[in-house]
Amino acid sequence: MTMSKLALPQAAAAKLQKLCPLRPTLAIVLGSGFHHVLAGLRVEKKINYAKIPGFPQPTVSGHAGELYFGQLGQTPVIVLSGRAHFYEGHAMDRVTFGVRMLAAFGITDLLLTNAAGGINRKFRAGDFMVLTDHMNFMGDHPLRGVLLPGLPRFVDLTETYDKQLRQILMRAGKRARLKLREGVYIAVSGPSYETPAEIRAFAALGADAVGMSTVPEAIAARQCGLRVTAVSCITNPAAGISQGQLSHEEVLETAERVKKSGAALIESFAGFYGEWSLRKPA
Ligand code: HPA
Repeated sequence: MTMSKLALPQAAAAKLQKLCPLRPTLAIVLGSGFHHVLAGLRVEKKINYAKIPGFPQPTVSGHAGELYFGQLGQTPVIVLSGRAHFYEGHAMDRVTFGVRMLAAFGITDLLLTNAAGGINRKFRAGDFMVLTDHMNFMGDHPLRGVLLPGLPRFVDLTETYDKQLRQILMRAGKRARLKLREGVYIAVSGPSYETPAEIRAFAALGADAVGMSTVPEAIAARQCGLRVTAVSCITNPAAGISQGQLSHEEVLETAERVKKSGAALIESFAGFYGEWSLRKPA
């Protein structure tokens, strides 16, 4: 890896700092089912990913590719709308570029959102699941390769998803009148959906939901020392759990149906987070 490549997330963060004076400590990555958050955001600055040096361009339709500075309720936030997925062919350093940029910017807390298939038979399409833990079945690792200066080589993932932020998310769920599920997310590379045999195996291993994102970002964020929390919109029963076939349309339909709940959850989270971050020791 060249020096200029090593410097990229820092350069991107410096550009953001120049473009907006707001200094949020919370960043939110929007996945399918959560884009309606933007409707409640008081936008101070909207920046197309193309304007951020080194930032990968998303290629999936429905993922816009904009970074927002704004206020959710009283809480200043950075919102990333659109992410680079591993299945698009991006290497892991691209997939995690945004997170490394946010860490260099000075973000301390990261909320990741995604759409996922439900493996746990109690889950229904339209449910939301707070991640308690994950399994990385992507067949690659975001920390593999050249060690970036100042960062640990062997990162502890005993508590990838921060307990306090998770409690705040659970409180936000109550406030938004949602029955939030909790569970283990298994990340696969995609882009095909899984086979019923794979889903049976994942169920036996203890996974509750399956998806194609979030885990690389969570791991990179932990290496950077960020507190992380994550929530899935369960858009469909995973392969073989329901009768029919899986489709991206079904995923988008469910995401559309529950978009107001997803947005209410994230907005309340930002509110409770704001109160908590004022109280917590630095
Ligand atoms: N599998 C993997 N990723 C997904 C699914 C699924 O069933 N639904 C939404 N994202």
